[in-house]
Amino acid sequence: MNIRQIQEARELFGIDEWGAGYFGINDEGNIVCYPTGEEHLSVDLMEAVAECKEKGLKLPLIVRFPQVIEGQLERMHTAFSTAIAEYHYKGRHFGVFPYKVNQRREFIENVVSSGQSMDYGLEAGSKAELLAALSYSLSDDALLIGNGFKDAEFIELGFHGAAIGKNVILVVEGPEELEMIIQQAQKHPVCPELGLRIRLYSRGSGKWEKSSGETSKFGLTTIEVLRSLKLLEEHNLQEKLSLLHIHIGSQVTEIKRFKNAMKEISRVYAKIWKMGYKPRYLDIGGGVGVDYDGSKTSFSASANYSLQEFANDAVYVIGEVCANENVPCPHLITESGRIIAAYHSVVITDIREVQGEETITSVEEVGIEPDISSSHKGINELKYILDNINRKNFVEYYHDALEYHDELFTLFNLGYLQLEDRALVEDLFHKICRRALFYSTFHRHQLEEFEELQKLMYSKYLANFSIFQSIPDAWAIDQLFPVMPLSRHEEKPTHKATIVDITCDSDGCLERFIDRHDVKSAIDLHPRTNDPYYIGFFLVGAYQESLANEHNLFGAINSAEIHIKDNGSWEITKTTSGELIQDLLQYRNYDVRDLFESYQNQIKKSESQGLVKRGAGAKILKRLKELMKVYPYLLEN
Ligand SMILES: Cc1ncc(COP(=O)(O)O)c(C=O)c1O
Repeated sequence: MNIRQIQEARELFGIDEWGAGYFGINDEGNIVCYPTGEEHLSVDLMEAVAECKEKGLKLPLIVRFPQVIEGQLERMHTAFSTAIAEYHYKGRHFGVFPYKVNQRREFIENVVSSGQSMDYGLEAGSKAELLAALSYSLSDDALLIGNGFKDAEFIELGFHGAAIGKNVILVVEGPEELEMIIQQAQKHPVCPELGLRIRLYSRGSGKWEKSSGETSKFGLTTIEVLRSLKLLEEHNLQEKLSLLHIHIGSQVTEIKRFKNAMKEISRVYAKIWKMGYKPRYLDIGGGVGVDYDGSKTSFSASANYSLQEFANDAVYVIGEVCANENVPCPHLITESGRIIAAYHSVVITDIREVQGEETITSVEEVGIEPDISSSHKGINELKYILDNINRKNFVEYYHDALEYHDELFTLFNLGYLQLEDRALVEDLFHKICRRALFYSTFHRHQLEEFEELQKLMYSKYLANFSIFQSIPDAWAIDQLFPVMPLSRHEEKPTHKATIVDITCDSDGCLERFIDRHDVKSAIDLHPRTNDPYYIGFFLVGAYQESLANEHNLFGAINSAEIHIKDNGSWEITKTTSGELIQDLLQYRNYDVRDLFESYQNQIKKSESQGLVKRGAGAKILKRLKELMKVYPYLLEN
């Protein structure tokens, strides 16, 4: 046990900060999950991987901890109960989980069952999500909220939902929607409750700032709100208006944005109440940020507030405005998804290859003499530079090396150098760069050109997974996720590295990593040994699976659910196989039988041309059929 090094690893990777009490490092130097948030109940992720493999689950895989979902629902609900008690607020909290954040059946079932005692409900933003949501038996008071742009069919589903006893609230996003609702109210015996999404002047912060503010694509303007209220009255539906809704964006990084929005919406609520309408609920949307980098700042990968602070501010601000306007306090609905879902799953894969394995720790380590000799002047100059570069001359010598390097490549292109010479140039130049970089670390100020050079020198760790499938937001919107090796935290990581995936796409790489004070351009990893080296991508439970894409035909990965008991023993309670090659082809309209027929015809032709021996064709066809049913990721070594 190397307690000191483990402590260093904790700080280096910031796990105590972003882990939110769900992740840590044990005395063996392995990453553990505390599914209930209690430190004496832990699952060693290395053991979890071993168990998954025993059950035939290949890597990459996603490990899910349903108890973490329960924990997050409780944290959210408790934060509001605490704030409500503290400020003597005369209303309660209802949580609804937004379907789009993680639509997997198992996930939603978990939310529904764990949320029963807290009257947790669901939020649906499309017909498909609403149809799925309608199938669940929620508690009597739980809500089913229909958001998003609606057509007559979506609205019809809302009416059927109300007819089968669900507390459906259809939130009107635009003027035409209300007209469609009014039409259907005349046909159906039971009408759902209605809500109005208000377009706020206040904006969120962070990447999704555009979800709110005057130019947002969502919500009713004040004129539209007034027109809607009039329409409701004209059709005798004013009693049905039970909710006002806002959502200022996802991953809101600054608490003051929430506070401003609460002030604004509670005034709108109070004015509407005073006009004689009686909305019971104020839906303050989602958007609570996940502290992906553990910095607790307003940086886009973080949030400068805690869940309790968010709840306190919401309850306090809304309570104050209601008291000031002398109107009753509404019940508060939260639609947070990211903060509920993010922590519960980890994508795990193994490193297959390391490109550029050297590290810059001492001059000796990088001072290997090239053994191929050459008489070319430029090459001899590079050798001279390598032998004589030092702490005083490294900038000048590095510039000279750059010039010789360019010159020698031009000579190669003109046909004056051999391939061996080119290899020697690459080798010498690489070593000079490493030395120059080493000396640059002694310089008082970081020199810009060496910063860039540093990036070129990082090792590339090839991870057996697809970024587009498993952490698509890292590619699409440069989102940062915590990433760390699952083991060897007793050992100092000596390599500065970037991570590349196995897709044939140069975008399939991670070159930005979390840091509490900055964004790192490299992650610290250990050198490879003969043992597998596993890497975990954490806090991936929100949006990543919903947005996953099958770039290069790498599909959904194998998964395992882990449950821990009070006595500390844990088990895999459910496994799900990832998509096989044939599944992925079928989704894209390939009929596997047509493919086999085509292979067969080509094999026959090759047999007749003598390319394939008679009889061997049958074996090829058999193998092609077998390979159609395999996992598309790299085979285990
Ligand atoms: C209307 C609505 N509600 C709730 C959410 C969930 O937001 P988050 O996952 O950031 O909590 C979203 C997502 O942006 C949304 O559009």
